[in-house]
Amino acid sequence: MNYNEAYELLKKFNQEHILKYYDELDEAGKNQLLEAVSNTDFTFINDGNEGADRSGYSSVEPIKVLTVDEIQKDNAKYYELGSEAIKSGKVGAVLLAGGMGTRLGITGPKGKFDIGLTRHVYIFQRLIENLMDVTNDLNVYVHLFVMTSDKNDEETRAFFREHNYFGYPSEYVHFFVQDLAPATDYSGKVYMESKSLPATSPNGNGGWYSSMARSGMTDMIRDRGIEYLNCFAVDNVLQRIADPVFIGACIADKSPCGAKVISKVSPDEKVGVLCLVDGRPGIVEYYELTDELRDAKDENGNYIYNYGVILNYLFKVSDLNKIQDEKLPVHRVEKKIPYMNEQGEFISPDEPNGYKFESLILDMIKMMDGCLGYEVVREKEFAPIKNMTGIDSVESARELVKKNGIEL
Ligand code: UTP
Repeated sequence: MNYNEAYELLKKFNQEHILKYYDELDEAGKNQLLEAVSNTDFTFINDGNEGADRSGYSSVEPIKVLTVDEIQKDNAKYYELGSEAIKSGKVGAVLLAGGMGTRLGITGPKGKFDIGLTRHVYIFQRLIENLMDVTNDLNVYVHLFVMTSDKNDEETRAFFREHNYFGYPSEYVHFFVQDLAPATDYSGKVYMESKSLPATSPNGNGGWYSSMARSGMTDMIRDRGIEYLNCFAVDNVLQRIADPVFIGACIADKSPCGAKVISKVSPDEKVGVLCLVDGRPGIVEYYELTDELRDAKDENGNYIYNYGVILNYLFKVSDLNKIQDEKLPVHRVEKKIPYMNEQGEFISPDEPNGYKFESLILDMIKMMDGCLGYEVVREKEFAPIKNMTGIDSVESARELVKKNGIEL
């Protein structure tokens, strides 16, 4: 992109100030600025500010969830179906690792975080070990696609290389970079991080499939005959990946997608609940659930809206292709955004000072024609690391990992 193209693009979004320092920059700075403009999706600002945000719902109903007991009964059948699909190369895995992990308060990729106590146990390592439980068992490798962002791509690739891909064959690991969205002040003007860089952040985990398409990964998926993608978050260190029984259950159900869920510990646990929203599969966030729905029980006294998602989904590639051109809603989130002020000083604010914009994978579920809920045992499969201490923290995850017999 040259200066004139950048100017025309920015003018459309009222963001010409981004080029204010262009003439002061050396050649490298000029290139960096033009590249940043071309890599940033400015449509996010309008979409987010226009209130495409969660607009509520008119009806919520329970969705079909296979419970742990039901799965147990058909375990052998599901395992057989899922193993067959994996062995014939029809299953790929997608690790969402483009987030900033701000709550954990570290810089760089979250997967580099070491939860070990007497030895190194990196988050990435835990995930690969979990995947290898399956690949060792079935004697076949699964292609793993790793989504990074411009903020952590190089460091993530280097970390995998340095650690020899944690024992996984490197030819089965494919990195791709997600897009960036601009970060603005409250009036909608993009902050500058420096004279040659507008403030940006990864555009959320919703854009993973379109980013895969842009980076050519979907061609690979087509050419290798991959029909299912298991998409999961970086921060759950007990995450089961390419789980044959889960995959088999989704295949048996002929569902366009499946979502692993856990039974909530209490009705007000802060997780998104899988249900039917206005007749379509969807996830209602805990703060959107009315008191009445939250406390609703069935005739046996069980909570109806009891199944929280853990960011482990199985998608049928053919159904992902159907929705590829549909636009996901953009969410505007108030955040602290480091920026350069008029005097050219770099400021790290203590309080939120503007908005970041992101699309979310949970909105993709709504676009699917069906979603099978698949209950897993929380203590065995859910140890998310969002914070250093307290709920969903390094501390709580370590306890759960140890309970599962993994040495730390
Ligand atoms: P979170 O919602 O926990 O966000 O991401 P985060 O950025 O990792 O952490 P905080 O909120 O800043 O503390 C859930 C999953 O989605 C991925 C994350 O890497 C994690 O696996 N994600 C999130 C992306 O891949 N890209 C994004 O833009 C955002």
